[in-house]
Amino acid sequence: MNAPVSMPHVMPTYGRLPIALSHGDGLRVWDTEGRCYLDALAGIAVNTLGHKHPKLVPALQDQLEKLIHSCNYYQVPLQEELARLLVERSGLTNVFFCNSGLEANEAALKIARKYGHDQGIDRAEVVVYEKAFHGRSIATLSATGNPKVHEGFTPLVEGFVRVPLNDIAALEHVAATRPNVTAVFLEVIQGEGGVNPARTEYLQAVRKLCDDKGWLLMLDEVQCGMGRTGKWFAHQWSGIQPDVMPLAKGLGSGVAIGAVVCGPKAANVLRPGNHGSTFGGNPLAMRAGVETIRIMEEDQLLANAAHVGQHLRDALTRELGELKGVSEIRGQGLMIGIELDRPCGVLLQRAVDAGLLLSVTADKVIRLLPALIITTAEADEIVAILTPLVKAFLSETSAT
Ligand SMILES: Cc1ncc(COP(=O)(O)O)c(C=O)c1O
Repeated sequence: MNAPVSMPHVMPTYGRLPIALSHGDGLRVWDTEGRCYLDALAGIAVNTLGHKHPKLVPALQDQLEKLIHSCNYYQVPLQEELARLLVERSGLTNVFFCNSGLEANEAALKIARKYGHDQGIDRAEVVVYEKAFHGRSIATLSATGNPKVHEGFTPLVEGFVRVPLNDIAALEHVAATRPNVTAVFLEVIQGEGGVNPARTEYLQAVRKLCDDKGWLLMLDEVQCGMGRTGKWFAHQWSGIQPDVMPLAKGLGSGVAIGAVVCGPKAANVLRPGNHGSTFGGNPLAMRAGVETIRIMEEDQLLANAAHVGQHLRDALTRELGELKGVSEIRGQGLMIGIELDRPCGVLLQRAVDAGLLLSVTADKVIRLLPALIITTAEADEIVAILTPLVKAFLSETSAT
């Protein structure tokens, strides 16, 4: 058991485990007591390249010595460089840079409203989803489909219509009854909601409906994007393209960054004076994004995410899939959820005690989001640590 870490001057907004991480290397991290952990969480899908990547660290050191921040009064060539890389890989056309997932989503929601205003719809509505998670600002928490996130923060922002995921009839009903809708906003794989994938046929049907109705298709790829599923962006498995795609998390391999990548329908909606950010697009974050993409390509990390992800999911299915108490093992690439039939938050501490970092989300879903550099041997190690923990937990508790 670790000594509790005390943080009396920090606001108590998180339920934290009593360890503090001090340094890392690849898929391993060490705490301040010197204990080593296998990191199957990657800072919640952030550390794309793991810890202390030998190509990323010198590049960031080089950037620190040149320029950390300039500002958007001036041209920022690294913004153009990263924007070009994102546009080439997504097939979209233009990018706005910010600093986090919720900021990227705020920009997307502003685009959806302005897109409506430009067509004379002055009370635009956006279709959002049950179990969705889009962030903690007032607008993005209103878009979020988890009542716990809303609690204490009403009145919510108006202008959202909520539907269940993978139910095209529900969306068609919205299309038939709500003339002010301007956009559909969803995660390709819901992350915080429990690793719930939007089905391929569903995404294709939503794309078609958006085309027919003139709506924007806005895909929140903050968690599932940037190679995590084995393609640059998770929607690419379905062969569709969004009009608006918020990104953050893995884009900077640990340096705070956000981006909204837009196609032709959305790219010119925000005009000078409509939106901005002091830190957004700063050279340090841009360099982190550029180097992340460069290293992902050089080291073939998309293929690695697909291959090791499949290996990990197969091994988990083999070890845990038949157990009474395991409802489903799902996900794509290195975004994997193991749903149990009972709340399993206690596994967080037990995993820490066994030397493994992971997450439990939506009460019952063990979520694995390791760095894209993970090897099959490290995947096997995760399974070897996790399997007895889950078995012991299921044998001593009962279903709810
Ligand atoms: C899909 C999705 N969108 C948005 C966010 C919010 O991102 P941030 O915490 O960077 O504001 C998250 C965070 O978990 C997320 O998973």
